[in-house]
Amino acid sequence: MKKRVRPFIVGNWKMNPATLARAEKIWVDVQKGLVGRKGQSDVAIAPPLPFIIDLKEMAGPQKIEFVSQDVSFHPEGAHTGEVSVSQLRSFGVKCSIVGHSERRADGETDQMINRKVLALHEVKSSAIICVGEKSRDSTGDYFNVVEDQLSATLAGVKVEDLSRVIIAYEPVWAIGSGKNANASQVEEMKLFIQKVLSDIYPREKASMVRIIYGGSVNEDNAEELLKVGTVDGFLIGGASLDAKEFVSIIKIADDYARFV
Ligand code: 13P
Repeated sequence: MKKRVRPFIVGNWKMNPATLARAEKIWVDVQKGLVGRKGQSDVAIAPPLPFIIDLKEMAGPQKIEFVSQDVSFHPEGAHTGEVSVSQLRSFGVKCSIVGHSERRADGETDQMINRKVLALHEVKSSAIICVGEKSRDSTGDYFNVVEDQLSATLAGVKVEDLSRVIIAYEPVWAIGSGKNANASQVEEMKLFIQKVLSDIYPREKASMVRIIYGGSVNEDNAEELLKVGTVDGFLIGGASLDAKEFVSIIKIADDYARFV
């Protein structure tokens, strides 16, 4: 029996918004919207890296973590354009999204993602590992796609580091399309991911890994995806840039956590 875990709601801003001033506005509005919240779920945002320090300084009393959208697998040195796990930690960023399909589309491989996960664990940071099929057909091949992504990206990840792994199931066809995977598709994939994890790791450890969902999550589908889809939270793109909608999804997750 899986113990209930706190929902984890992550806003992935991607390469948005266009300016720091607009990022500040979203951030201020999110914090205003959350005034008085008790916080039954964990919340994080992943803004563009250059904005993080400024937004961190403007953080209010709500505990909202900052996550990076990517990270280098190189520890240091001559790697133009890269940012290391320790550089991120030095300004308080202890978790990174890795293997987002938009990066995979630009050539990132499972092996590169795996090196990023191991680099993060080396400094005791966490990895949100994105997996998900490009499309579905009736053969069910998408299960194999996800299984292969999981086993490759988790290669060499020690059981003691499993608490620093979050799996984000993001079917590519659902990202930015306005067409989310429905709750039963999400539940089925969550169970499948749990099974793959417990084939690799002891069941009780595997069952504690948070499995979150991303792909056209909004305030209208969030509750059903949590209740029926049984996911442990969301990785939210478009809707996280709309402060009102993001706040509303966080509150839905808080309510869900309170009453389940
Ligand atoms: P959307 O919520 O815009 O579909 O994006 C999902 C995503 O890619 C989050 O990482």
